[in-house]
Amino acid sequence: MTKLSRRFFLQTIGAAVASTVVGCTSKPILPVQGSAKRHIRLAFYTDIHARKEWDTPEALAMAAASINAQHPDIVLGGGDYITDGFQSSVATVAHRWDAYMKMHNNIQATLFPAIGNHDLVAALPEDGTPAAEDPRAIYLQKMGLARTYYAFDTLGYHFIVLDSVEVTGGKYKYRGFISPAQMEWLKQDLAALKSDTPIVVITHVPLVTAFYNVTQGVEFKPRPNRVIVNNKEVLELFSQHNLILVLQGHLHVKERYQWGNTTFITGGAVCGKWWRRGNWYKTKPGYNLITLNDNHVEWEYVEYGWQPRRP
Ligand SMILES: [Fe+2]
Repeated sequence: MTKLSRRFFLQTIGAAVASTVVGCTSKPILPVQGSAKRHIRLAFYTDIHARKEWDTPEALAMAAASINAQHPDIVLGGGDYITDGFQSSVATVAHRWDAYMKMHNNIQATLFPAIGNHDLVAALPEDGTPAAEDPRAIYLQKMGLARTYYAFDTLGYHFIVLDSVEVTGGKYKYRGFISPAQMEWLKQDLAALKSDTPIVVITHVPLVTAFYNVTQGVEFKPRPNRVIVNNKEVLELFSQHNLILVLQGHLHVKERYQWGNTTFITGGAVCGKWWRRGNWYKTKPGYNLITLNDNHVEWEYVEYGWQPRRP
């Protein structure tokens, strides 16, 4: 992110999110250069799982350079920027944030992040250290955000970034869930839109996926921490709106699914198979390049060339 765009981001998104919290509905309009209205090139990268081992900081530098070489209008982040924040102490993951923020700061276009389950820090620590009062605090501070969910407009598109993680404890520790407060905010946000405005949603945990149908069979029920459990209620909010694209992470597979006028893309992973050698269901380390032209979605999964070295 350039100095100018970072300053702009912090001032506009930070201020807009802060003002939305206190009830103001104004949203920033970003002065993105390069593409005509209703035509935009996006890079979407997800599931980085930054750490220091296995030369992975080198991979992150390669991924950032590859994204920059595409000259996207904006860049969207799908979450899980670091490894295992959720069950670790703040001190344990500090160096992983350092590794990730190098990549983050190297991205030249304005970057809009969504939170992943690994980005909560000390939600349920397993080493006996106390749980964080707000496990999202470090993420918010690193990203320069006042809130994990927000919306913005650019080039004729409305972007909605969701927080899809709810800490539950118990067997699964968390679940994919859009909170009641977020649902209320979403209703208000959509009410201010024209019904034909094209909308893009970014969420870490998938709203819709065929991954389990294909890999486990159609009768398999995914665990509640694999998908958003209230996905139907969320999608119903969009029934009178023009939701053209949902960008998702979490599963590390590349997948495109069309339901009605909505395209769902699960965006693979920068870390591929959690930095292990080989592919994860035919998906190599990569990110997504997406061109939107009015309501039309073009998608390419770009492998940036990293050969994993995890033993
Ligand atoms: Fe995840």
